[in-house]
Amino acid sequence: MTHHSTGKTLLLGIDLGTARTAAVSSRQHRVLVSSVVGYPKDIIGVKILNRTQVIGAEAIDRRAYLDLYHPLQGGVLKEAGDKELEAAHELLKHVIERCEPRAGERIHGIIGVPARATAANKGQLLKIAGELMDVAMVVSEPFMVAYGQNRLNNAIIIDVGAGTIDVCAMRGAVPGTENQASIPKGGAYIDRLLESAIRDAYSGVHLDRYLAQALKERFAFVGQPERRAVVGMRVNGKPVELDITDAVRVTCETIVSDIVEQIKQMVLLFDPVSQGEALLNLVLAGGGSRIRGLGPMIEAGLREYGEARVTPVEDPEFAGASGALKLATELPPEYWDQIGEKVGG
Ligand SMILES: Nc1ncnc2c1ncn2[C@@H]1O[C@H](COP(=O)(O)OP(=O)(O)OP(=O)(O)O)[C@@H](O)[C@H]1O
Ligand SMILES: [Mg+2]
Repeated sequence: MTHHSTGKTLLLGIDLGTARTAAVSSRQHRVLVSSVVGYPKDIIGVKILNRTQVIGAEAIDRRAYLDLYHPLQGGVLKEAGDKELEAAHELLKHVIERCEPRAGERIHGIIGVPARATAANKGQLLKIAGELMDVAMVVSEPFMVAYGQNRLNNAIIIDVGAGTIDVCAMRGAVPGTENQASIPKGGAYIDRLLESAIRDAYSGVHLDRYLAQALKERFAFVGQPERRAVVGMRVNGKPVELDITDAVRVTCETIVSDIVEQIKQMVLLFDPVSQGEALLNLVLAGGGSRIRGLGPMIEAGLREYGEARVTPVEDPEFAGASGALKLATELPPEYWDQIGEKVGG
């Protein structure tokens, strides 16, 4: 394979997600940041912080005195306004800095975006990327996962993200929109359902979307519970122990049938002799792949299609970014515009 990553170039693989942005570098950096930028609401916030912006999880912790901006929606830049674009710029700048580029070094980066991202959206992202890197390319995110996992043919990638669940048929080429479907029910959808389910079960409970998300990440499962989900919370200000096992199961299970139905549709894109192989190559990625029991429940839903096998990626937070870095390492930038859209060079 080609090795153009001489000492003078830092290669980056970046997955810009709704919930989290992951970056890996050719010098083994691994950076994971919540995709959120907070700006102090007023001068008091500026005084408390001694800064004019906070990026990542710290912004969520300090949300009481910050205005939070989530610059991405379903993995694409929110086209809401300048503040979002500025936040996207700051977020990308932050992850690049955390990869410690050296003075005078060139930065070449590949950024995964949903295959369905519009041209305008890719353009906006490329513009920001071009301001921060010497060469940058945006490519389909599920393709990055597939590339990293070496599953480029007769495979289906299921990326359970925060904003969306993306299902993508890999048929030996860079997938176009016809090979890709997006279900608008990612982790954030589950968080909202969980928040209301707990509220309905225990009126007066103190809960917001961030706490609901944290509880989901701790206990998420479908099917048979391995343990009860019991948590200390506050109801009308008083501490109580609440059992949220059923709420967690019911809300996590809401995504399963959509995933199964989408896989059934995707299978039809393969020629009949390859369909069986594709069903044995179902790759589960994204933070939502950590929901316990999800793979087996998807397999069970496909029973009438013969044997189906779901393989979760080992490192869901970094699977996309690592695939992007692998591609950046193996393919010289001269060829990047054959795969995605590129700036610089
Ligand atoms: N242990 C866990 N159990 C269940 N869900 C989890 C767990 N850990 C993380 N998640 C969820 O995974 C989602 C984040 O996954 P990921 O980082 O793949 O999303 P993203 O790439 O930011 O989103 P998108 O791909 O939609 O832009 C969040 O909704 C998060 O709550
Ligand atoms: Mg993602």
